[in-house]
Amino acid sequence: MSVKIEKDDQPRTISRREFLSGAGIVAASAIGISSTSKLTKGVVQQEWPWSYEKLDVEQVRKLGHLGYYEGACSYGAFHAIVSALGEKVGDPYANFPTLMMKYGEGGVVGWGSLCGGLNGACAAIGLIAGEDYKPLVNELIAWYSATPLPTAISNDLAVNHEFLVSEYKSDQALEQSVSESSLCHVSVTNWCKASGFASGSAERSERCGRLTGDVAAYAVELLNANADGAFEAVLPLSEDTQACRTCHSKGKEFDLGQWTRGKEECSACHEPHD
Ligand code: HEC
Ligand code: HEC
Repeated sequence: MSVKIEKDDQPRTISRREFLSGAGIVAASAIGISSTSKLTKGVVQQEWPWSYEKLDVEQVRKLGHLGYYEGACSYGAFHAIVSALGEKVGDPYANFPTLMMKYGEGGVVGWGSLCGGLNGACAAIGLIAGEDYKPLVNELIAWYSATPLPTAISNDLAVNHEFLVSEYKSDQALEQSVSESSLCHVSVTNWCKASGFASGSAERSERCGRLTGDVAAYAVELLNANADGAFEAVLPLSEDTQACRTCHSKGKEFDLGQWTRGKEECSACHEPHD
């Protein structure tokens, strides 16, 4: 392990051994890092966010689809964006262990919670967009919930064999469905019922591969707009959900209904009440 520190604007990397042996402590105290909290844990805050250069949306869509074939949805979306930046910007992107994101597969190792494509793309936004992450992630999830997926662009790329894989799980144009949810469980179930394909079918897997490319591509559209200072949130929650949230949202007034929180489409799981 090595720790990067900066002194007099001169970045210098010290080894873990050097750090623990005291050379690090001298260096760290010279730049004013508390010798109790951070040093005892051996952790120094790294540079964040990482620098961004605008990417080609369509290239990232293809990389996302390829990444799905290599390591499933969450890794696929994350790797597409980070590896494209590795090509363009170099380090630290070029040396990031993107396989870290494999855990997100199937809504986190098959639990069907947050869609892995979203999980990977949101992690990339978190790495790149700094404090702007919140509106960008919010918009990406709103878009995912409201958009017929896989997109027609992805279906066409597969039909015309323009993705980067040599053998397709399926090269048919696949049924599109709108998840109205960020959950893998809901998204996959809606699609399976719309298409008639089982959750373990090659077609469902291909559907998620195309969707991984689509999500990574849309994340890059948002990141590019943000880099231009042109990002604008355009997708509000549904009116029904906004109405529920006037009482049922994160807050301190228990009796009003604030013993819950969330922004998912309430009507997917609850009936309205008086
Ligand atoms: C005016 C405030 C208010 C609004 C708006 C509101 N709720 Fe409630 N809700 C409450 C309160 C207070 C309770 C608990 C008392 C009760 O059961 O009536 C409750 C109870 C519930 C419960 C648990 C009991 C039950 O009836 O099943 C659910 C689920 C629920 N609300 C969902 C929703 C959804 C979904 C919406 C939007 C369609 C919504 N609420 C809109 C205030 C509100
Ligand atoms: C994916 C399904 C799902 C969605 C979407 C969802 N909920 Fe729930 N909600 C649940 C489950 C499951 C529970 C816990 C079991 C229960 O009480 O129904 C719950 C519990 C609640 C409760 C407490 C119920 C009680 O008995 O006190 C309220 C209130 C509630 N949700 C409101 C909302 C609101 C408002 C939204 C939209 C912003 C929403 N929920 C979206 C599944 C969902």
